Amino acid sequence: MAKGIFLGIFSLLVGLLLFTPGTRADEFTEADLKKWQEDFQVVVQEGERLFHSALGSNAVSCDMCHPNATNTHPETYPKVQKQIGKVIGLRDMINWCLKNPLKGEEMAADDPRMVALEAYITWERRGVALEPGKH
Ligand code: HEC
Repeated sequence: MAKGIFLGIFSLLVGLLLFTPGTRADEFTEADLKKWQEDFQVVVQEGERLFHSALGSNAVSCDMCHPNATNTHPETYPKVQKQIGKVIGLRDMINWCLKNPLKGEEMAADDPRMVALEAYITWERRGVALEPGKH
């Protein structure tokens, strides 16, 4: 009898632990998903704005050479980039363009402008199969 009560309390505690909000990493509410998609789209739009702005020391913007981000092939990174001569990530290529054609400063990985540019560039190619290393 005492064993039964103990087991009951134990199961209740395990149940509480499993279903307490925040203890399960893979449980998202519809409201969470909607909010995160909206937050993400704000960043994508900021990236699009930056892509069409002069970010360096001359009046050059990304869209002068890449009319939109769909022809920047983010799905092929990391890959060997001729200009740099080794395997680099997408962010390194963005920094190469910032430094060279735009005569500007490189952006740190956690610079919100870099995150926005990456978000816009990859969003434009959503659904395209990943092909790292491809030329
Ligand atoms: C004066 C022209 C020019 C401007 C302006 C320019 N780029 Fe580039 N970009 C290049 C060249 C040249 C390459 C290397 C050739 C290639 O691989 O397509 C390149 C490659 C890239 C790639 C990789 C493309 C691929 O297919 O591998 C990305 C991503 C990119 N640029 C992003 C940007 C961003 C972001 C900006 C603005 C901050 C920018 N570029 C501005 C000339 C430019």
